Amino acid sequence: MANPREASGPGRFTWQIEAQDNVSNRVEPIRSVTGTRDLLPPDTSLWQRVETEAHRVFAAYHYGEIRTPILEETALFARGVGTETDIVMKEMYTFRDRDEDSLTLRPEATASVVRAYIEHSLYNIGGIQKLYYIGPMFRRERPQKGRYRQFYQIGAEVLGSQNPLVDVEVIEMLVLFLGRVGIREYQLLVNSVGCSSCRAAYLESLRVALQDAKAGMCVDCQRRADTNPLRVLDCKVEADQPIIEKLPMIIDHLDPECRQHFERVTSELQARGLAYQVTPRLVRGLDYYTRTTFEITSGALGAQNALVGGGRYDGLSEMLGGPSTPGIGFSIGQDRLILAVQASAVIQSENPLAAYIVWMGEPTLAPALRLVRELRAQGLSVETNYDSMKIKKAMGNANKLQARFAIIIGEGELASGKYQVKNMATSEQSELEPSTIAEYMKDKLRIRN
Ligand code: HAM
Repeated sequence: MANPREASGPGRFTWQIEAQDNVSNRVEPIRSVTGTRDLLPPDTSLWQRVETEAHRVFAAYHYGEIRTPILEETALFARGVGTETDIVMKEMYTFRDRDEDSLTLRPEATASVVRAYIEHSLYNIGGIQKLYYIGPMFRRERPQKGRYRQFYQIGAEVLGSQNPLVDVEVIEMLVLFLGRVGIREYQLLVNSVGCSSCRAAYLESLRVALQDAKAGMCVDCQRRADTNPLRVLDCKVEADQPIIEKLPMIIDHLDPECRQHFERVTSELQARGLAYQVTPRLVRGLDYYTRTTFEITSGALGAQNALVGGGRYDGLSEMLGGPSTPGIGFSIGQDRLILAVQASAVIQSENPLAAYIVWMGEPTLAPALRLVRELRAQGLSVETNYDSMKIKKAMGNANKLQARFAIIIGEGELASGKYQVKNMATSEQSELEPSTIAEYMKDKLRIRN
């Protein structure tokens, strides 16, 4: 097995290949890292279709795509997400680079988007910035169905407006997208966590309540009670839940502006027919949130039922050294989205192979390859065999690959100038001139030019 060993030089690694098994003379296969997985066809076609829909819906709301690096300075997440959060304390993949810089594989993308917004002075462009991203994130959590160490998010962020209409538009866009990919059964949970000024008063009352309550709680909560009491509310320890239930709720401590903001969000959600549930315990596990927070959960997902997390983060830009800029956004867990899409049975992975070309004998090879090339140039997915084989085996290939059509070219077809085009589902067979085959198949497959 390949095994990295630290060499004598500072920060240097060499890869030492462990001794082979001398008896069988075989090397151990290397497996993917725990919590990571390979996404394979045909499932990846479903991933692509979901992504295509995201590009379409987000473009309609005038979002532009941003691609930020997967590697960031660790300080970005320490400052942005918060040093007392589970993500930063327990879950980040952090390492020293060869020049001793502390780097982290991004556990989420909101902090990166805001860093890029500041770094490229996007605030100078004027107006609000609407950005979206699709890509991998990394958290060292305990892997289980729907929870991975490398997972994917589809997210969107709006920078530059505090208007509650923006909060509602973000949720409206999310709901439209989920509907487009066939997800209709879910709960939208909303809350407000207030701003820094109402938060101060709330945290004081939480601290006081925790002075008495913390003795009966887990060690993490006992520490959080002093360092960052809000994070006590994220605790997943079963025994702590009855205590957490009795703690004061932030929604009862909102100042008049935050209350008004939240009321506008909920009344506008109602006006747009977007069903929601106010959930006072929803404080989300990241420190940057202010005012509106929301989650979408889905019953189709089992234990890991959080499909989307999002909210407002009006102080994040300043926390990262930028100008005061309000922001709001969400991230959809794409792995969980795919599980929910598969459960909804509206969109399934599909085999895109339009035709398999069956050629018989050396003289038919060149015309067969010409047709393969022409059909592919027309955007049709086409496959053939490179080595000569009997018709039975080639038709067997067409079947195995679930080709929609088999196109058969033998010496007789070459002589007549017409090829056999067989619909594999109905066995219906037509004789067609090569130049008409692409149009014929597009018509049958209902592919518009
Ligand atoms: P989050 O709630 O930490 O929020 O993650 C958002 C979603 O990512 C979750 O609801 C879940 O679907 C998915 N997710 C998280 N961890 C895992 C995992 N280990 N395996 C599979 N899926 C996972 C954020 O990341 C914020 N950046 C959201 C946001 C954007 N807030 C404002 N803008």
